[in-house]
Amino acid sequence: MHFYIMTLFPEMVMQGLGTSIIGRAMEKGILSIDAVNIRDYAFNKHNSVDDYPYGGGAGMLMQAEPVYQAYRAVEAKIAAGKKADGDDSSVPIEDGTPAIRKKPRVVYLTPQGKTFTQGMAEEFAKEEELVFLCGHYEGIDERVLEEIVTDYVSIGDYILTGGELPAMIMVDAVSRLVPGVLHNDVSAEFESFQDNLLEYPQYSRPEVWHEKRVPEILLSGHHANIEKWRREQSVLRTARLRPDLLEKADLTEAERVLARG
Ligand code: ADE
Repeated sequence: MHFYIMTLFPEMVMQGLGTSIIGRAMEKGILSIDAVNIRDYAFNKHNSVDDYPYGGGAGMLMQAEPVYQAYRAVEAKIAAGKKADGDDSSVPIEDGTPAIRKKPRVVYLTPQGKTFTQGMAEEFAKEEELVFLCGHYEGIDERVLEEIVTDYVSIGDYILTGGELPAMIMVDAVSRLVPGVLHNDVSAEFESFQDNLLEYPQYSRPEVWHEKRVPEILLSGHHANIEKWRREQSVLRTARLRPDLLEKADLTEAERVLARG
């Protein structure tokens, strides 16, 4: 999976994503992350990429052209990457710039977008490359958004200062679904939100901590009973903490009764 992040703060995203599991997956070549600095495509001598909004109003807007040129640079990088991989689906266009036949998905991070979910992460994880566009100031000139953006995504109903943290969150959530990124492929198998149920409680050594014992059943070695107990715990926990999810969960009649308490 190749991620391209168009941003005014490339160091922020590279530092944030360069460690831990994502960093290791990059070292192994399973993922690549390329932060493209939109300011490199400023077209005036002050290197500025923002201007006042027509019609007045508070704040500044990111201008269309630097964002568009940054996007064109990403397209060229994707085409070059595909060529290096022996994929000839990129074709040169009139001005000699390599272009890509299949447009990449370009995600604009905005509080106006659809709220990001695990289901969306699963969808995005099927792509070969994903491009993120991080806005700043009061937003981005609408015309370039119309031209390049395929998905408008929000990470929740609150306003942040820019799209970098949302992009990092999405890269993290998508990356861990890419085969080989997690050590243990089963660890992505049962977890919160699978089947719209929250994860059951988990315990590690010691058996007693602060006078709290690990539930006896987990020490029994009886796998079928343990699975049954875990499923019940998932149902109970979801009923208590996220009853909204239960409506979409696929429960047996007995589990529905358990959830009602
Ligand atoms: N940019 C600012 N706030 C945001 C949010 N909640 N989600 C995505 N992008 C944003």
